[in-house]
Amino acid sequence: MARILTGIQSSGKPHLGNLLGAILPAIELSKDPANDCFFFIADLHSLTTIKDEKVRLENTRSVAAAWIACGFDTGKNLFYRQSKVPLVCELMWYLSCFTPYPMLANAHSFKDKADKLSDVNAGLFSYPVLMAADILLYDANIVPVGKDQKQHLEMTRDIANSFNHRFGETFVIPEAQIQKDLMTVPGTDGQKMSKSYGNIIDIFQPDKSLRKNVMSIITDSTPLEEPKNPDTCNVFSLYRLLASDSQTEEMRQKYEGGNYGYGQAKQELFELITKKYEKERQAFDELMNNPSHLEDLLKDGEKRATEVASEVLARVKSKAGY
Ligand code: ADP
Ligand code: TRP
Repeated sequence: MARILTGIQSSGKPHLGNLLGAILPAIELSKDPANDCFFFIADLHSLTTIKDEKVRLENTRSVAAAWIACGFDTGKNLFYRQSKVPLVCELMWYLSCFTPYPMLANAHSFKDKADKLSDVNAGLFSYPVLMAADILLYDANIVPVGKDQKQHLEMTRDIANSFNHRFGETFVIPEAQIQKDLMTVPGTDGQKMSKSYGNIIDIFQPDKSLRKNVMSIITDSTPLEEPKNPDTCNVFSLYRLLASDSQTEEMRQKYEGGNYGYGQAKQELFELITKKYEKERQAFDELMNNPSHLEDLLKDGEKRATEVASEVLARVKSKAGY
């Protein structure tokens, strides 16, 4: 049984790119009976950049609701908010004392953020130590992350090895599982879909605004009657990611045959999204409208996470003489 752990940033309501590129593949992984998955919302890490508590809480809720609505099984696996298992902050202190200052000062992500952000706080600096604590507190074996997080995983291993070297076998040394060729979902303007580019498709919004969102996809000005090239069209690129092969082939023929407008293609894409994600959209609304149910599911994960964390932290403290 491998323990797989990963943290999810609560930086906003998940969009179609997050769904196809991250949430659904992780949920698939979690269904394997050989995997014991610990997925958590990194809401303490968010405080390094998001200071507005209402925004942070809303983000945390919508991220949690999206994962559960998409079928993440919180009974088989653990799903929790990082901040609700504060033992992670205690472990962070022990780890900090095994973290060389230059390792943090030279971290790529810190240097990037320090160049870009006006608020360069100590939380940003020690971000990798909290991330190491997230992982080591639960004896994780495998940590699936994007390539941008590779260095953070190397630091986690270095910190754990340094502690183990001084006090003997204490921490499980985790392996990073770098997710390379996952799909890139294009946004409404054809660039990579991202919150920061303002080009997202939010599948969890009501029909009317979702339709408007889909209608805003940028297309060229080929007249209705003329044949169109599906391979250069943003609507088709999104459609093919969601449709079956035969639906995609049919849509391709409509493009190439002429007398088929982009408005019609967008309407078909809208209908496909609402049909394909009908269950998920409904479950998302129910969870958002029933915060106490969502809270109960998270609390259950947090209770179980605290049990695991307490054992590991006790082991660490006794090794270090506390
Ligand atoms: P955003 O760019 O909107 O801020 P994040 O950086 O928070 O998104 O990404 C969260 C997860 O979703 C990451 O695992 C990332 O790889 C995945 N993801 C984000 N945008 C896309 C996209 N357009 N296509 C595929 N995966 C994506
Ligand atoms: N830093 C990660 C990111 O930006 C989120 C994260 C926090 C994380 N703690 C973690 C990922 C522990 C994996 C394991 O995406």
